[in-house]
Amino acid sequence: MRFVSDCLGVNDAGHLTIGGMDVPSLAKEFGTPLYIMDEAQIRTNCRAFTSAMAEHYPGKWSVAYASKALAFAHIYRIVHEERLLTDVASGGELFTALKGGMPPEGIIFHGNNKTEEELRYALKTNIHRIVANGTEELERISRIASELGITAKVSLRLSPGVTGKATHTALQTGKLDSKFGIPIETGAAQAALELACSLGGIKLEGIHCHLGSPIFEIETYTDAIDHMMAFMAEAGVPLKELNIGGGYAVRYLPGQEVLPASEYVSAIAKAVREASARHHLPLPELVIEPGRAIVANACITVYTVGSIKEIPGVRTYVSVDGGLTDNPRYMLYGAEYDIILPERALESKSETITLAGRCCECELLGKDMPIQPVKPGDLLAVLNTGAYNYSMASNYNRVPRPPIVMISQGKSYIAVRRETWEDVARLDQ
Ligand code: LLP
Repeated sequence: MRFVSDCLGVNDAGHLTIGGMDVPSLAKEFGTPLYIMDEAQIRTNCRAFTSAMAEHYPGKWSVAYASKALAFAHIYRIVHEERLLTDVASGGELFTALKGGMPPEGIIFHGNNKTEEELRYALKTNIHRIVANGTEELERISRIASELGITAKVSLRLSPGVTGKATHTALQTGKLDSKFGIPIETGAAQAALELACSLGGIKLEGIHCHLGSPIFEIETYTDAIDHMMAFMAEAGVPLKELNIGGGYAVRYLPGQEVLPASEYVSAIAKAVREASARHHLPLPELVIEPGRAIVANACITVYTVGSIKEIPGVRTYVSVDGGLTDNPRYMLYGAEYDIILPERALESKSETITLAGRCCECELLGKDMPIQPVKPGDLLAVLNTGAYNYSMASNYNRVPRPPIVMISQGKSYIAVRRETWEDVARLDQ
């Protein structure tokens, strides 16, 4: 067995493996398109964050999995077993987290426009934290909590005016011009804090920010921590928790430089320790929310190649049996991926192709991608597809979504079953 990267290898037959299992055999057993995930890799990724926090942060801390990256029942079980909390961004994610066995006290609820129904559900379930995105929401939380006769544990999502530098503009969230967060620089954050303290049914626990996704540079985090801790120092009330959000980058292409989890965590922990000392504040409870970095490299998507269209002097389109319905990220952000032919993984990548999907739209999964010589009927794998692929999948063209097969200790299990045409039409009256 040769090592390719993370949970991927090549076996004696020259086949790609994931979690030690032969990818062509799995494709034969479960069909394509197919997401295959390695549970051990997810656990390794969780531990990279928890062990770095334990090493570098002397105060109380939590790592919360940002489950918008990939949400289904088993993933909540796995991250809970790894002692992570989870962040949810909708009633549907909250429902799935509870179904997967995440206890309410492990759940943080985010969103810029949570509905009345979702807030009521979260409050009744008595989850760990509701992160309020504005004053109107604070008032609603206060009203519902008072009606239910409970106290909501709330933190405020602030916008520190700092955002990821190389991040796609659609994914820059920490800046002033964003629907997310209550701006510090306009004074709105201070006003919201005072409101939160004056409202019944609310216990203000801390402040939160999320700066963008992915963020490659440490300074974005350390700058934001300076702003957030200065706000804490001037708040006039004790705020026990600082949640600095997610955004930790992952490697999508061979040779791409990204920081390991431990470097992000040690720099964040150091910045918080130093800012606490500077402002004479006790160490806050520190929370981070990695999503992508927990799941991206634990998954591949396996397709079958169908038609190949060569346009001499222009490009070669290779079409597969999936597309933007299982991975919209190239169409949305120009996101690039590495590809490989699982049945001939050791051959050199002597061809360059443009990878097209099967939808009725000029949709691509990537342009100018190096690959082994490819022909119709071959299996083709796209690597590192764990984050924001299945979770952003759709039924465009009424294409059923692929299943997620999980590898655990040399065995496979279906974590999410394949959708059928019946499933796709099930809501039609
Ligand atoms: N915390 C909060 C409040 C967030 O909004 C997000 C992501 C995260 C944590 C996790 O960020 P991560 O560690 O995964 O970078 N669909 C886009 C990404 C959207 C991210 C939204 N929020 C993509 O495909 O790249």
